[in-house]
Amino acid sequence: PAPGWTVDTDVVVVGSGIAGLVTALAVAGRRAGGGRVLLVTKALLDAGSTRWAQGGIAAALAPGDSPEAHLADTLTAGVGLCDAAAVRTLVTEGPDAVRRLIDLGTDFDREADGALALTREGGHHRRRIAHAGGDATGAEISRALLAARKQAGIEVIEHALVLDLLLDGAGRAAGITLHVMGEGQRDGVGAVRANAVVLATGGLGQVFSATTNPEVSTGDGVALALRAGAAVTDLEFVQFHPTVLWLGEGAGGQQPLISEAVRGEGAHLVDASGERFMVGRHDLAELAPRDVVAKGIMSRMRETGASCVFLDGRHLGAPTWERRFPTILAKCRDHGIDPVTEPIPVVPAAHYASGGVRTDAWGRTSVPGLYACGETACTGVHGANRLASNSLLEGLVFGERIAAAIPVGPDPSPLDVPADDDGGLLQPEVREDVQRIMTTYVGVLRNAQGLETAERELAALGDKTGAEPCVEAWEATNLHAVATAIVAAARRREETRGSHWREDHPDRDDARWLGHLVTRSAGGRL
Ligand code: SIN
Repeated sequence: PAPGWTVDTDVVVVGSGIAGLVTALAVAGRRAGGGRVLLVTKALLDAGSTRWAQGGIAAALAPGDSPEAHLADTLTAGVGLCDAAAVRTLVTEGPDAVRRLIDLGTDFDREADGALALTREGGHHRRRIAHAGGDATGAEISRALLAARKQAGIEVIEHALVLDLLLDGAGRAAGITLHVMGEGQRDGVGAVRANAVVLATGGLGQVFSATTNPEVSTGDGVALALRAGAAVTDLEFVQFHPTVLWLGEGAGGQQPLISEAVRGEGAHLVDASGERFMVGRHDLAELAPRDVVAKGIMSRMRETGASCVFLDGRHLGAPTWERRFPTILAKCRDHGIDPVTEPIPVVPAAHYASGGVRTDAWGRTSVPGLYACGETACTGVHGANRLASNSLLEGLVFGERIAAAIPVGPDPSPLDVPADDDGGLLQPEVREDVQRIMTTYVGVLRNAQGLETAERELAALGDKTGAEPCVEAWEATNLHAVATAIVAAARRREETRGSHWREDHPDRDDARWLGHLVTRSAGGRL
């Protein structure tokens, strides 16, 4: 439909997780009197993934730690595909960025002497992960940033699903179209005209049936970027978190995360016979990088025919569970498992897109005026497998850099906003079909035959068009576009690297595959 309303602003930021909020705050801070920054978000301000983050935020903050050591762990986890310069930016700017987060009011956990309490997670050779509320780090960061947003007076439109990018005659980003479930003047499809657009729409975990991501993580930013012809890269590297609470065969939707920090504090992964199967598979055993642990779990499940493995943290004792992991403890108990007295049944589940909209070190995408930040982006810091707790840090560091990179502009020039082309909108029920296909054929274990089947079945789903414009139809369309792009990349990469595990190509192949797969649509819907 044609936009029913139009708003003009200097910068529009899409998404209200750590990446969007930090960018919006930093943009406002650089403009006298707050400037004109508009934050739009798909549901409520805190509905995205940030508030679900448990383990924490990684930075070289401990005496004796160094950005160099953090760099080395990040590069190792990324299995040869990280952009070393981008990682250096992340780890050297990270500690001060975390200190600014503290200055903003984030209340991280402290030791008795007042020093920051730091934990370990997979792939880190030392304790460098700051946390809050024990295992509620994202919720605390979100609280502090939302309070700062309010104080800065940054305008927000909630329940606003981003649809498409507006381009001016020179091919520059000039705004976005939105579908707003609002009241009064800003209801239905509208447009925001802006000099710069920042995509910070979070992840795409909902392309799978079982994920740690909330319902809203439907890859909207990546789908928009594909439609706009922006370069998207590394989509085959969808990271599976090794441990979510096993809720029984076929459990779908957002799954309860059991933070890596539980292993960081000493819990062990065991099979049904009590054997610690990660010992001997990697020097760091349970604290190996995430892809290695997820593969170890899947292998043991296949070897034994079991539906899950177990995380045994009984030896941590009740006081540690209550102080360090109150959220996880309560969630497990809600499901009838008491981690203090019994091992927790766990399985891997889709968790994080290491790839996304390709950017440079300042968040600039291949479309002038379009920036991307956080999980939506691919800055190059994650390579083939993101290091634990580097995601909040990425949003923090690169959000500030994007704000520095966006020129302060005059009012956007008048632009005729075209009617949104919703002829190709897919039926809402396509969402479940996409999830089934991706879970069956494109999960932790992949092979050519399964990927071909996925490609064929997804192509057939592409015929289910003609849906009435509504949020559910746009989400289904986005999930389908993103899934199609993931499968195409996963088919092409004929090797096993990081979180991309090809049974039919079990080895890493540096001679052929030390590059990145870039996906670009020819425009229009995929
Ligand atoms: C966790 O707490 O295990 C998740 C941390 C992350 O995804 O980096």
